Amino acid sequence: MDTDAVWVEDMPASYDRLLGPALFAPFGRELADRAVALRPARVLEVAAGTGIVTRALCTALPEARLLATDLNPAMAARGAAGVPEARWAVADALALPVADGRADLVVCSFGAMFFPDRPAAFAETGRVLAPGGTALFTIWDVVDRSTLPAALHRAVAAVVPDDPPDFVARVPHGYADPERIAGDLAAGGLDARLETVRLAGETPSVAALAEGFVRGTPLRAALGRHGELPDMVRAVAGRMTAELGEGAVRGELTAHVVTARAA
Ligand SMILES: C[S@@+](CC[C@H](N)C(=O)[O-])C[C@H]1O[C@@H](n2cnc3c(N)ncnc32)[C@H](O)[C@@H]1O
Repeated sequence: MDTDAVWVEDMPASYDRLLGPALFAPFGRELADRAVALRPARVLEVAAGTGIVTRALCTALPEARLLATDLNPAMAARGAAGVPEARWAVADALALPVADGRADLVVCSFGAMFFPDRPAAFAETGRVLAPGGTALFTIWDVVDRSTLPAALHRAVAAVVPDDPPDFVARVPHGYADPERIAGDLAAGGLDARLETVRLAGETPSVAALAEGFVRGTPLRAALGRHGELPDMVRAVAGRMTAELGEGAVRGELTAHVVTARAA
């Protein structure tokens, strides 16, 4: 597996606890609100991670049957423990464990950037959608349009100036061009509408957010090559705190929200 898409060991716990409430929960609520209006009975979540959006979907759609899937067993295990109301399975977005036409709604929050073949993943989404069904995706815009990840990216560059790991700008924020996304959706046979949405993200502590990025994302492997992880956490947290201040910080988060149907 590409190391840019690997979450192992204690990474899911750091992701879930330190990054989830600030960066992913706001868009989870946005997706759950949109899901309610669609009144789906059978929901499939792809790249569900630790279940941040799954939890919001279960609350918003108490009558729906929800299957949550993720490629990394450690992420799915954390999700299954925290959101037992859903069924969970380990699955690649390119080979979903669902028969043709069985999902009224497919939700994929911040997963598409990690897929090795996006048109194939969108085609797989279309395969499992029921006639008239809908898919909702969120995809980060470029890193400079999200305050907290942008500060993290600058902090990493300052801590490792000779060979700065570019994971955050290149991967989660590197699939941001609406024309490219629209082209891949069309190539996968989906008829899609894309909106760029700005929401607020809030962390109770900039240092905790820095720790979440360093310990809870694939940035960890790249930074681990430059020093001991506790030292990296301290250095990145110090830079971010110097820029944003101590304690609670609120920042803008910008992402594309895609609503798609089989063409
Ligand atoms: C940034 S996390 C998003 C998790 C969750 N949807 C959320 O909003 O918190 C990206 C997720 O994509 C998953 N992932 C990466 N490549 C995948 C693939 N090919 N198929 C399914 N999931 C994948 C990772 O394991 C990880 O859980």
